[in-house]
Amino acid sequence: MPRLGSETLVIATHNAGKLREIAALLAPYGIECLSAGALGLPEPVETGKSFAANALIKAHAAAAASQLPALADDSGLCAAALDGRPGVYTADWAERQWFEGPPGRDWYMAMGKVEGMLAALGDDVDRGCWFACVLAIAWPDGESVVYEGRADGTLTWPPRGTMGFGYDPVFVPRGGELTFAELDPAEKHRISHRADAFAKLVADQFG
Ligand code: IMP
Repeated sequence: MPRLGSETLVIATHNAGKLREIAALLAPYGIECLSAGALGLPEPVETGKSFAANALIKAHAAAAASQLPALADDSGLCAAALDGRPGVYTADWAERQWFEGPPGRDWYMAMGKVEGMLAALGDDVDRGCWFACVLAIAWPDGESVVYEGRADGTLTWPPRGTMGFGYDPVFVPRGGELTFAELDPAEKHRISHRADAFAKLVADQFG
């Protein structure tokens, strides 16, 4: 039995892509993953002001509703020159307003907002940034633990590459030249903020 105290873990996401990625990362440890979506658990509103607060909201809600340990992830892009924005609002910046077209998320528009704000700060603006990922595990008795991961890099413009998702086409990881969207996905998964947080979770829970 892992330190987790259960061989079954609820993944507090309704996003099929996240579930697939997390289930694959946990499979070598003999953990069976159930998704909050498949269990019909409600999706809590993410009212937190930090990645950790939002990850904990999602993990606690799923643990209380399922009476099983639950794992949630919250992530986003932080620009140094914008005091860490968009941060917890990363996904919201892609949400179209009524005058910007049909409802939904537009990642090109979101990357353009970040670039526009950087450009307004001048040519020698600090283009440093980082992707953050917080993983939270919550247990039905109210206990919880968080693991924070980070990938540092710089913001490039215009966007390059077709792989990955979200802000990958403008993120060049430190020490590299290709964007996350140009990198082989296996290489991105090796160096990403999610990999960093997962390594800490695995060392703590299964090490
Ligand atoms: P949430 O954690 O589901 O709230 O999503 C946060 C947002 O951060 C995502 O919708 C993506 O736009 C962005 N994001 C998180 N991780 C990555 C990544 O690895 N690449 C690109 N964008 C990411």
